[in-house]
Amino acid sequence: MERLKDCIVVVAGGTGSVGEGVVRALVRDGATVVVPYRNDEKRLRLEEYVRDVADNSGGRLVCMAADVGNLESMMGFRAELVDRFGRVDLGVACLGGWYYGYSLHNMPVEHWDQVINDNLKTHFICVRTLVSLMHERHQGVYVMINGGAAELIAPETGAVSIAAAAQLMTARVLKQEARGTDIRIHSLMVYNPVKTRDRRTEVVDDWLSAEEVGDYITSLYVGSAPNTDKTIHRLYTSSNLRQ
Ligand SMILES: NC(=O)c1ccc[n+]([C@@H]2O[C@H](COP(=O)([O-])OP(=O)(O)OC[C@H]3O[C@@H](n4cnc5c(N)ncnc54)[C@H](OP(=O)(O)O)[C@@H]3O)[C@@H](O)[C@H]2O)c1
Repeated sequence: MERLKDCIVVVAGGTGSVGEGVVRALVRDGATVVVPYRNDEKRLRLEEYVRDVADNSGGRLVCMAADVGNLESMMGFRAELVDRFGRVDLGVACLGGWYYGYSLHNMPVEHWDQVINDNLKTHFICVRTLVSLMHERHQGVYVMINGGAAELIAPETGAVSIAAAAQLMTARVLKQEARGTDIRIHSLMVYNPVKTRDRRTEVVDDWLSAEEVGDYITSLYVGSAPNTDKTIHRLYTSSNLRQ
């Protein structure tokens, strides 16, 4: 079923472990999915992973070289996106990295900078790139993938929680700033670990797969998810989703 036929999607972080499943689901649903990438090996790996669904749906994957951590690079991406596709209908930001190491009071400043760069600055750059485009047309759907760390705290991983909480607030700010437009902003809070291609052991069957996260994004976009108008959507397990 081509629920996303004619939909132009950008997935920032589409080469990551959750992102690649999201890309696969959206291509399978018929979308044109554009992914900025900074590493050729990861681009090839993603293209290979998506090939069978692209062959069997009207969807396609387009990878464009750009670094989500660099505003200038993403401004180039934005210009190419407009040139080739004219717009973005759905933007997904699936970015960041896990951190385990130090309590805040003795965390090296380089570690702090890295977490803030990967988990927060990348989001700001995506907002500048994609949400700004949506504001030009007063429409679009923007989905930020987040995790339970935004609301849960554990020692030695605190910087991740701080960045995730700020990411959650970013979604709330974006929603306020989209008032009076047809732009929808969503924060998808995925509470358990996600079943990704790389996670081979200690998997709980009922955890969401990365493709199921993608399916949920499609349902948000087309308006069939429960409470589509809400900004924050908390996802726990597969069976929970089916209820
Ligand atoms: N994995 C899980 O079990 C899980 C569970 C719940 C929620 N989540 C959420 O899902 C999101 C993605 O997590 P993930 O596990 O998929 O992470 P991941 O595999 O590390 O992928 C992160 C993506 O972000 C990109 N990225 C990170 N820092 C960057 C930087 N400084 N500049 C440019 N690109 C950068 C990476 O690019 P490259 O590919 O080029 O490295 C990659 O595409 C996070 O918000 C996380 O909280 C994940």
